[in-house]
Amino acid sequence: MRLAQILFSQGFGTRRECAGLIYSELVQVDGRVVDDPDADFPTDGLSFSVRGEPWRYFEKALVLLHKPAGYECSMKPKHHPSVLSLLPTPLRTRGVQPVGRLDEDTTGFLLLTDDGTLLHKLTSPKHHVPKVYEVTMKHPVDATQVQRLLDGVVLDDDPAPVRAAACEATGEHSLRLTLTEGKYHQVKRMGAAVSNRVEALHRSAMGGLTLDNLTLDNLAPGKWRWVEADERVALGLKAG
Ligand code: URA
Repeated sequence: MRLAQILFSQGFGTRRECAGLIYSELVQVDGRVVDDPDADFPTDGLSFSVRGEPWRYFEKALVLLHKPAGYECSMKPKHHPSVLSLLPTPLRTRGVQPVGRLDEDTTGFLLLTDDGTLLHKLTSPKHHVPKVYEVTMKHPVDATQVQRLLDGVVLDDDPAPVRAAACEATGEHSLRLTLTEGKYHQVKRMGAAVSNRVEALHRSAMGGLTLDNLTLDNLAPGKWRWVEADERVALGLKAG
C-alpha cells in the first residue's frame, strides 16, 4: 500500500495532511525517513513512526484501555471527559468506540474498536464472553448472598432472573463476580437485589484476557495497548 494511504487509513489526517507529513520527513519506516508518499510497503505487521511516535498498522483497530474512574464511555459525555480523550488522536480520528459501557465510576477492562462487525459481535447477547468484576460491597458479604447471585436474582426491568456464571467472596466486603451478559448497571442492580450495595466496581478480565498479562506489561489506569492476534481467540474471536 502507498505510504500516504497507510497513514490516511490509520487516522493520521486527511490525504493531503498525510502526504504533508511524509514530505516534511516526519515519517520513518524501519528506522529510515521515507519522503515519498507513493513509496509502497506491505502492510502486514508493518511498524512505522510519525513525529518519532511508534505506530503499528492494523486494518481495523482493537485496543484495550484500563479505564480510570471519572471518565464516561459515552461518545457525547455529559459530566466527565470521555474515555476517548485517553487515546491518541489517530485512534479517535479512526472512530474507535467502546465495546459496551462501563459506568463513570467503574474502573478496568474496556475494549474499543473501529470495526463495526466486531463491535456488533462482541456486544451481541449471543456472544457470551465471560466478564469478571471485582466488587466492593458496603455491607459484609455472606454465603447466602453469594448463593443467591449464583441461583439468580430478578431485576426491576425483566421477570427472568439473571445469574452470575461464577461468584466467590474475596474478602469480608468483596466479591469476584463473572457475568456472561451485560444489562444496564447489572452488577450494581444485582448487588442491590441481595440487599447489599456496590461501593466500588472494577472489571478485571474479559474472556481469557486480563489487564494483568504476564507477557505484556500490566496496564496502568489510563493506559491503552493493542490487542494481539492470539488474544482475540481468548475473546471468542478468530485470530488475525
Ligand atoms: N455493571 C454495573 O453496574 N456497572 C458497570 O459499569 C458494569 C457492570
